[in-house]
Amino acid sequence: MNVRITGTGSALPGKILTNAELEQLVDTSDEWITTRTGIKERRIAAEGEYTSTFAAEAARRAMTMAGALPEEIDLIIVATVTPDFPFPSTACIVQDLLGASNATAFDLSAACSGFIYGLSIAEKYLRSGSARKILVIGSEILSRVVDWKDRNTCVLFGDGAGAVVLEGSEGDHSLLSTHTFSNGTHWNLLYQPGSGSRNPATDPRTIAEGRIYLTMEGNDVFKHAVRAMGEAAEAALAANSLSAADIGLLIPHQANQRIVDATSKRLGLGSDRVFTNLDRYGNTSSASIPIALDEANRQGVLKPGCKLMMVAFGGGFTYGSALVNW
Ligand code: COA
Repeated sequence: MNVRITGTGSALPGKILTNAELEQLVDTSDEWITTRTGIKERRIAAEGEYTSTFAAEAARRAMTMAGALPEEIDLIIVATVTPDFPFPSTACIVQDLLGASNATAFDLSAACSGFIYGLSIAEKYLRSGSARKILVIGSEILSRVVDWKDRNTCVLFGDGAGAVVLEGSEGDHSLLSTHTFSNGTHWNLLYQPGSGSRNPATDPRTIAEGRIYLTMEGNDVFKHAVRAMGEAAEAALAANSLSAADIGLLIPHQANQRIVDATSKRLGLGSDRVFTNLDRYGNTSSASIPIALDEANRQGVLKPGCKLMMVAFGGGFTYGSALVNW
């Protein structure tokens, strides 16, 4: 049984936060943010908008494209590090919002690699015949875990969601492979110290000492990201006896233009074969690849038979790749 992406969707908050507006919040400049990251603006969720809000909307759009009815969905995976609640899972809330009453639903925590991990799990369910239609969603509201006084991090992240419907298929237009990797020795280079069991939200020090916010060693993360994304992409090429010349489009995790450039250079891909939208959305963690995939798909950038490489890296560390014959 092959596995095919039959629908893509994305949903983003309406509010745009520009670099010029950030200049009013922290000691930064549009020039610094643009040259060091490539980001010009990001979307910020409004009060009353939650991770499940955008997840469900992205899923609806993907299901409409796939022609999939809510009751046909067997499994809902929501990749997120910013769930609505510690429990229940955001996936169960999305199930309720969609009316997907026959689905099993769970969240997946793999930070910015969450969507690739989700594809990998969905692939196994479909190939084994354990499910027929699956929603894999990446959705984040990172604006609620960043410290808006910390210029090192607050300029980098944004909110939004992307989703795909995956189905079993006999045809050639299919997911060729997924590869996932973890390196837990560096878990503390990119993480959110607060609100879990180590620094519970019930301990007043968690808030008072700022442990609630995402924290990152940017330089170290940068170096690991370039190496790991290159490795993950090369694993996909080797497993399919392909070379970089065969890749029609690369959709990398949208964290930083310089990471994207270094990864494409390592693979020998020109910018004409790399899709980016991080200038408009910043780093939306698990949502970044499915949002970009949906935009590339709707813009007609992906032609049938195009070999699409998706590659991610994130906190954990986690990393991985997915190769698709579109
Ligand atoms: N505006 C202005 N100056 C800033 C700034 C900002 N928003 N953020 C940091 N700086 C300053 C630093 O304080 C530092 O100043 P100093 O030299 O006086 O101490 C200087 O800029 C250089 O900082 P540095 O960390 O060396 O910059 P960099 O070129 O490595 O870029 C990142 C910083 C965060 C953009 C970069 O390291 C990065 O993108 N890392 C990976 C982040 C990422 O993608 N994480 C998610 C992975 S999934």
